[in-house]
Amino acid sequence: MTLPTLDQARELDRKDPLRQYREQFRITDHRLIYLDGNSLGRLPEKAPGDIADTVEQTWGDRLIRSWNEGWYTRSYSLGNSIAAITGASEGEVVISDTTSVNLYKLAAAALKRQQGKKKIITDNLNFPSDIYILQGLVEQLGDDHELVVLESRDGMTIQAGQLEEAIDDDTALVSLSHVVFKSAFMYDMKTVTEMAHRKGAMVLWDLSHSVGAVPVDLNGAAADLAVGCTYKYLNGGPGAPAFLYVRKDLQEQLHSPIWGWFGELSPFEFGLGYRPGKGISRFLTGTPPVIAMVPVERTLQMLTEAGMDQVRRKSMDQLAFLETLAASCLYNIGFSPGSPSESDRRGSHLSLRHPEAFRISQALTDPGTGNFQVIPDFREPDNIRLGISPLYTTYEEIFLAVQEMQVIVQKELFLDFREERGAVT
Ligand SMILES: Cc1ncc(COP(=O)(O)O)c(C=O)c1O
Repeated sequence: MTLPTLDQARELDRKDPLRQYREQFRITDHRLIYLDGNSLGRLPEKAPGDIADTVEQTWGDRLIRSWNEGWYTRSYSLGNSIAAITGASEGEVVISDTTSVNLYKLAAAALKRQQGKKKIITDNLNFPSDIYILQGLVEQLGDDHELVVLESRDGMTIQAGQLEEAIDDDTALVSLSHVVFKSAFMYDMKTVTEMAHRKGAMVLWDLSHSVGAVPVDLNGAAADLAVGCTYKYLNGGPGAPAFLYVRKDLQEQLHSPIWGWFGELSPFEFGLGYRPGKGISRFLTGTPPVIAMVPVERTLQMLTEAGMDQVRRKSMDQLAFLETLAASCLYNIGFSPGSPSESDRRGSHLSLRHPEAFRISQALTDPGTGNFQVIPDFREPDNIRLGISPLYTTYEEIFLAVQEMQVIVQKELFLDFREERGAVT
C-alpha cells in the first residue's frame, strides 16, 4: 500500500458509513486530536441534558418516588443493553460497583464453587488491579491457593500453548483480560473457555477494553463470568459504574462474597437474615449510582443502531490505516510496534513503543508544541497507545497524529519536556 495522503484520509471520512455518529459527541476544540477514547471516552452530546433531566425531574420533582419509576430497574435494563452488544442473554448482565469490585465478587464466588481446586491462572499482561484483586483473595482465603501469572514471551501476547500447559485439573479459575490494556492483544474467548472447561476450570473475562469496540459473544463462547467498565468505549464518563455478567445456569450456584441489601432476595422487607437474591440480582451490593449511570445509555443506543460488526470493521480499517502510516513514517525514527500485527488478534488501539515515549507523549499533548495538540496515552515503560473509537475517530485525525509524532521526533521537540510523571498518566 502506498503512503496515504491527507486528501485520501478526508475522502475516507466522507465515505465512512459511521460518520454521522461523530456529531453526537461534544467536540469543542477542532484542533485537538483525541486518541484516548480507549481510556476515557468522549462526552455524548446529549448526556448533559440527560443528566440534568434525571437530576431536575426524577430527583428534583419526583424525589423518592423515582425509585419505583425507573431508578430501581435501571441497573438491569442497562445491563440488558450491554448484554445485547456482548452476546449475552437478558438477565445475565447488570450494572454494579467498579470493575475491580465486580472482579473481586465474581472471582470469590468462583473459588467458593470450585472448592478443592487450588490454582488461579492469569498473565502478566493483565491489568494490575485485576492481579491485585486475585493476590488479595489468595491471602484472604488463607494462602491456600496458588496464583500462577503466565509470562508473555514477547511482551505483547500469550500463546494458546502456554495456557494449555498451565490449566490442569487443579485449576479453579482462569482470569484474563479479553483485550489486554497495553498491547491490545485479544484472546480467542471461545478457544480459551473450551480449554478451561475441559479441565473443569471456570473463566472470568475482563471486557473493559472490548466492550463497545469489538464484537463479543459471551453465550457463543459459553463464557462463565465477565466484568467490564463503561467509561472507555461506552463513554459513560469518569467513574461511571461497571458491569458484570454471570451465565444464567451458574447464577444460582454462585454467591457474592459481599452480602449487601441490593443483592438480597427482598431488600425492602428489611429482614435481618440475608437470603441471596434471584438470578443476577444477587451480585448487586448497595444502592446503584443512578446519576452516574445516565450517560452510558446514549452510546449503547448508538452501538446497537450501528451494529458491532460495522463498528469492528471501521476499527480494523482505521488500525490498518494507522499501521501503514506508522510503518512508513515512524518505524524509521525509533518507534517499534507494541501490538500484534495480525488484525484479528488485537482490539481497538495500537501501541507504539519508543525509548522516549513519555516525553513524546508530553510534547504531543502540549498545545504550544508542533502544529496540533494530540492526546494519546502513555503506558510504562515505553508505550504510546493510540485509541480508535469508531463512533468518533476520523482518518484525518489519525493522519495528523502520525504526522505530528514524526515532526516531534525529527525536530527533537520532546527534549523540552521533563521525565517527571503526573499522578495520572
Ligand atoms: C482492563 C481493566 N480492568 C480493570 C480496570 C479497573 O477498573 P475500575 O477502576 O473500574 O475498578 C481498568 C481501568 O482502567 C482496566 O483498564
